[in-house]
Amino acid sequence: MKRQLFALALLGLIATPLWAADNCSTVIEGNDMMQYDKSEITVPKSCSEFTVTLKHTGKLPRAAMGHNWVLTSEADEKAVLADGAKAGVDGDYVKTGDDRVIAHTRLIGGGESDSVTFDTSTLKDGPFVYFCSFPGHEAVMHGTLTVE
Ligand code: CO
Repeated sequence: MKRQLFALALLGLIATPLWAADNCSTVIEGNDMMQYDKSEITVPKSCSEFTVTLKHTGKLPRAAMGHNWVLTSEADEKAVLADGAKAGVDGDYVKTGDDRVIAHTRLIGGGESDSVTFDTSTLKDGPFVYFCSFPGHEAVMHGTLTVE
């Protein structure tokens, strides 16, 4: 009996975090064709934190075909892009300390990946959008993030 309880406890320890991690995270891919593979991301209301992993499945270097994943409110998008362009490739095309940016990954090149985890309590004044802030990419590399 004791052994069974121990086994159940172990199962709980293993199963719970895996399930939670699966539910409160997502992977989005960018490629050499200047595309994301997702145009929508849904964050479950039950998640206190959410993790986005960006994978660049292409081969081109970041200076030529760099991608990041930047999350803002729809209202802040254009201003964040304009300031991000000034930050340049060395600044990941995101203005340092930009508090309009809810979360962002690094700017990565082909074969690289980067993750960002953010507190979902910061998702207050939507609607929310995500995009690549590499100049010219946002027109195509763009999506919406909703909390449900
Ligand atoms: Co890009």
